[in-house]
Amino acid sequence: MATEQSYIMIKPDGVQRGLVGEIIKRFEQRGYTLKGLKLINVDRALAEKHYEDLSARPFFGALVEYICSGPVCAMVWEGKNIVAAGRTMIGATNPQASAPGTIRGDYSIEVGRNIIHGSDSVESATREIGLWFPEGITSWTPVAKPWIYE
Ligand code: TYD
Repeated sequence: MATEQSYIMIKPDGVQRGLVGEIIKRFEQRGYTLKGLKLINVDRALAEKHYEDLSARPFFGALVEYICSGPVCAMVWEGKNIVAAGRTMIGATNPQASAPGTIRGDYSIEVGRNIIHGSDSVESATREIGLWFPEGITSWTPVAKPWIYE
């Protein structure tokens, strides 16, 4: 049974540009399961906590401003190897280094407007899911599972 989960977030530019459906479609069609989903305005404290590891970096202030600049689409996706596979689907941090076919490579140009976040490790995913979904997430098992997993 595949239970690995990742925190995936469509950033304000991705929401404003109408890319929510396209991004959800990619994860759904790959075979991943949507376990958490909400559109929220992010306050400064939450953005700073999420990116606390980057607090000493010169772009930290601009990054927090950007994340707080409009609603984000916060999601939990589940399935085999979702953390690493999600990062591959998303592409490199700098969209200029992201291959065509990746989400950032297909829809973005600037590192500071790279439309989507994905957890970088299973430990980060656990921390981020707890941070963004303190109320918990939906529990369900898709009936399609035997058609996706051997
Ligand atoms: P990071 O966690 O290094 O990348 P990723 O999102 O791929 O896990 O950085 C978090 C975000 O910070 C990144 O998505 C975009 C922003 N950022 C900048 O604006 N400038 C930079 O030079 C870097 C490295 C990141």
